[in-house]
Amino acid sequence: VRPYVRSDAPGVRDVLQATYGAAAAPAELLNWLWFGNPQATYAGMVAEAPGRVVGVQPMSVCQCRDAQTNVRGAVLTGVAVHPEFRRRGIFSALVRACEAEAWRVGADFVTTMPNERSRPGFLKLGYTDLGQRSLLIRLLDTKMLVHNSVPVRGLDRLGASLLSATQALLTPTPLRAHADVVELTTPPADLESLERDHGRLFPGLGLCRTNPWWHWRYTDVPGRAYRLFELRDRRGQPAGFAVLRHETRHGLEAAYLMDIVVRTIEALRQLVAAVMDAAKAHGTALFCTVISPTLLDRALHSAGLLRVPAWLPTKRFYSVARFNPNHGPDAAKRWSRIHTWYQTLGDWDTL
Ligand SMILES: CC(C)(COP(=O)(O)OP(=O)(O)OC[C@H]1O[C@@H](n2cnc3c(N)ncnc32)[C@H](O)[C@@H]1OP(=O)(O)O)[C@@H](O)C(=O)NCCC(=O)NCCS
Repeated sequence: VRPYVRSDAPGVRDVLQATYGAAAAPAELLNWLWFGNPQATYAGMVAEAPGRVVGVQPMSVCQCRDAQTNVRGAVLTGVAVHPEFRRRGIFSALVRACEAEAWRVGADFVTTMPNERSRPGFLKLGYTDLGQRSLLIRLLDTKMLVHNSVPVRGLDRLGASLLSATQALLTPTPLRAHADVVELTTPPADLESLERDHGRLFPGLGLCRTNPWWHWRYTDVPGRAYRLFELRDRRGQPAGFAVLRHETRHGLEAAYLMDIVVRTIEALRQLVAAVMDAAKAHGTALFCTVISPTLLDRALHSAGLLRVPAWLPTKRFYSVARFNPNHGPDAAKRWSRIHTWYQTLGDWDTL
């Protein structure tokens, strides 16, 4: 196991294609993800067998913040070991090497959002299970949703009415869309002051989202389009900013609220209403988001989103972390539960 160097790219792509299929890992997307973030330094590891790369663990070290506390965090993304080389401890060796590098450069923690396959390995390595981020949804077109799963006339209409009634019972009605919401092509210039207010409303340990980060994450991504919305207050000042991504999955039109920053809860409700209207006009049946802080969960509920109960068999959004043992026990105590973190879909590279 050794540090990743740029000339490893073809070997790494072979591992990713053997893992995820031939269409996986276009070179430009990997370059964007692994080397493009202007506020991160990159320090991933590869595992090498004679003559070939057989495993990869990308890692970026970033400035993070919770209210007034600045910390450095290392984020692990998309680990993969070639199928012919699994269950030999390669993943474990890659993660250990990344950790050693993270502590060497002074990171306070290493975190990642594992899937069902890698999570057992992280827990075995002693990572803290932070818990699951919340999945929140709003059904924008119950007819289309039901028709997708019950394509029987009559039954689908009944199902759609039942779903709409249940949703109305369980969630507050969204506001009527606000007129002062505009769609932008690039993030507004003054997002950082909005970020500070948002951070006070919804504290939690998360990435520092600076203007260069917003640009890298949502306008510089090769082959992916995001929709950007800005809410302005009565004086024309920015009061909120939100990012949306559309996707068709299994024939269903879904829209993901990737990120939202606001000055007030009222602004959040107005902006969410406008963004949901824009999604509906685009033909979206299911509007959803995944977030970690409890207060944001509550605010989104008040805007009309329903938290999907943990007992339903939907996708799980895990987070795990390990804290730098040389920096004392305080961080491990303060950020041991997911609701003390600030994580959104924007932190999650696969969307
Ligand atoms: C997940 C993955 C990286 C593990 O790589 P690996 O080199 O086989 O893992 P290791 O040999 O270091 O295993 C470490 C521990 O993880 C757990 N583990 C690994 N593979 C597992 C599996 N298929 N089922 C259950 N536990 C598993 C075990 O606890 C294992 O320890 P053990 O072998 O002593 O029981 C590999 O299976 C892979 O590339 N999967 C597809 C890509 C993927 O899903 N990546 C995660 C993206 S978040």
